[in-house]
Amino acid sequence: MDLPSFNLTTTPLTGLTGLDVVALPVRGGGSAGNGAGNGAAEGSGPRVGDADAEVARGLGIDPEAVLELQKAKGAPGETVVIPAVRRDAAVKSVILLGIGDGSPQALRKAGAALARQSRDRARVATTTLADLEADAARAFVEGYLLAGYRFSRKSEPPESVDQTVDLVVADPGSYQEAVDRGVVTGRAVRLARDLANTPANEKSPAWLAEQAELVAERAGLAVRVWDERELAAKGFGGLVAVGMGSARPPRLIELAYQPDRATRKRKTPHVVLVGKGITFDTGGLSLKPREAMVPMKTDMSGGGAVIAVMSALRDLGVGVRVTGLVAAAENMPSGSAQRPGDVITQYGGKTVEIMNTDAEGRLVLADALAYADRELTPDVIVDLATLTGAATLGLGRQYAALYATDEALAEALLTAGQASGDRLWRMPLVEDYRSTLDSDVADICHVNRDPRIGGGSITAALFLREFVGERPWAHLDIAGPARADADADEITRGGTGFGTRALLRWLEGLG
Ligand code: BES
Ligand code: MN
Ligand code: ZN
Repeated sequence: MDLPSFNLTTTPLTGLTGLDVVALPVRGGGSAGNGAGNGAAEGSGPRVGDADAEVARGLGIDPEAVLELQKAKGAPGETVVIPAVRRDAAVKSVILLGIGDGSPQALRKAGAALARQSRDRARVATTTLADLEADAARAFVEGYLLAGYRFSRKSEPPESVDQTVDLVVADPGSYQEAVDRGVVTGRAVRLARDLANTPANEKSPAWLAEQAELVAERAGLAVRVWDERELAAKGFGGLVAVGMGSARPPRLIELAYQPDRATRKRKTPHVVLVGKGITFDTGGLSLKPREAMVPMKTDMSGGGAVIAVMSALRDLGVGVRVTGLVAAAENMPSGSAQRPGDVITQYGGKTVEIMNTDAEGRLVLADALAYADRELTPDVIVDLATLTGAATLGLGRQYAALYATDEALAEALLTAGQASGDRLWRMPLVEDYRSTLDSDVADICHVNRDPRIGGGSITAALFLREFVGERPWAHLDIAGPARADADADEITRGGTGFGTRALLRWLEGLG
């Protein structure tokens, strides 16, 4: 489905005809949390600006009366839809759109709500952005693009209309960049969702590598893909072990971004992103229960987010070098699958005793992290993975667990997460828990052996830390938020593309 196109314009809405939807902003209470607080005093009623009230009255609507009769509050994302009641009406529906305190958080919800109400309408116009900060405008555009996302493999796909959204503002110049960044970000998250939502019968490790190659071509990136023979020859023992139960062999995907000369910093820092790319996780011989397996086509969400981030770097003018690694394999039980009790050798030489073949993510990540540390001389490594059910138990489905060996890195990621809508919560790397990974026969064991310790997301992070050397490193356990069971605000059911927005925001801030 094509993206709607956003046009910044100064043309006032008064006198316009032929529009499907006109949305007029309503400030009010019901803060979206952490708002910038642009003057919406708590307890004050919903407020429509003078110019917007005039537009409404021109269409035969008394906005204050409607808000009062509908008990509207102007809360972020609240909508009061007023349908036209005559065939010759100039506008098919007017929406009074709650924007709360005008903060980015509130506008993200408002954009999402408007997208849902104006689905399949060709001509949408709104004055919502007038008087907002640029960051709120960006959030509005992102919310709109993300809530409007859908994925289909129906034999008769849903009808799609070319949609234009006119954004009426006094000074288009001051919003253009924010809107453009919103569109680039929205498109990237939608790519991450497409990759996650693609069914696993279509989505093998080789398929994921092909998608990365297509992205590389479009986004001006270098790309390299290791096939199963090269992986075995170079000692990527985790990828080989996890992939060997499947008829569809593993891949390591490397995408590399070099900033243009104009945007490059003098000594360009090098960031390496690593994503878990398990295209389907049955658990292997340590087979998952039936219901737990159903959503496991999304177990490559971390890798999908890495590909999506890489796709947007040039358009966002990111000024640092970024390399993206996706460790892709399918975790299947079969006569050639790895067994509990096996000892494998990861990239770089560490030996690992396999206890549970369902803890496969950390094995493929360990290879990629060790490769990054040894071969790519990164200044910082960040990985994303749908790694543990334990992370979801602790934080639920709306926060990812953040682990970091570097305080400044943790702070920067938390800030980027909060600003972008991908929320992160810092978790401790508990040194006392490390001993649970001791193995009798190998250098390390990959899962918790001591039942008194627990902390499954923490011990997984401690395992990964063994492979990053001395590099500043952060790990996002996104098992909870990578997938949603219901539509809510800008989130749509299925793959969410979680992590794409937070990482892009962080990278934009690095230069
Ligand atoms: N992909 C799963 C984690 C997961 C669970 C993601 C639920 C999304 C939703 C991962 O490979 C896994 O199976 N982890 C195990 C680890 C255990 C065997 C130590 C888990 O969390 O149960
Ligand atoms: Mn697993
Ligand atoms: Zn998994």
